Amino acid sequence: MALGEIKASYVVLVLILLSFKAKCSSPFRARRVLTTDDVDTVFDVTNFGAKPDGKTDSSLEFIKAWNAACNSGKKAKLFFPQGTFLAGEVVFQGPCNTTTPIVIEIQGTILASTDLGLFTRGVWISIENVNGVLVTGEGTLDGQGGSA
Ligand SMILES: *[C@@H]1O[C@H](CO)[C@@H](O)[C@H](O)[C@H]1NC(C)=O
Repeated sequence: MALGEIKASYVVLVLILLSFKAKCSSPFRARRVLTTDDVDTVFDVTNFGAKPDGKTDSSLEFIKAWNAACNSGKKAKLFFPQGTFLAGEVVFQGPCNTTTPIVIEIQGTILASTDLGLFTRGVWISIENVNGVLVTGEGTLDGQGGSA
């Protein structure tokens, strides 16, 4: 089970050079099991227009969902349901005013766009100025190896 806690003000999560399997090689140490009681408000990326069809770039929709969670002032979970999402460079920016660290739950697959031009900063998904994040779920972050 991929479950971890990051306590850092600047965290770069995923490098495009590595195909990252959240399921089996999470770099984050598991500390405790999350229950649904831990989270008050779920921000499902599909409610913000993200399309789990494997071909529509959902980068902006991910950021919209993150911003809503980040500025909710409550407990918040950013939720990626089943399906395959495509994303280019995504920066989840803080600071957030949630009452607890935001939970990022990934059930589906997030694929890096293979269009190199989308990655201006050399990272795929990064989280900046956020005071703690929990990553959980059975899903997959796939940077598509060196091709991304
Ligand atoms: C959290 O921040 C957002 C954006 O600045 C603001 O609209 C909202 O009222 C804040 N909520 C709380 C509970 O501080």
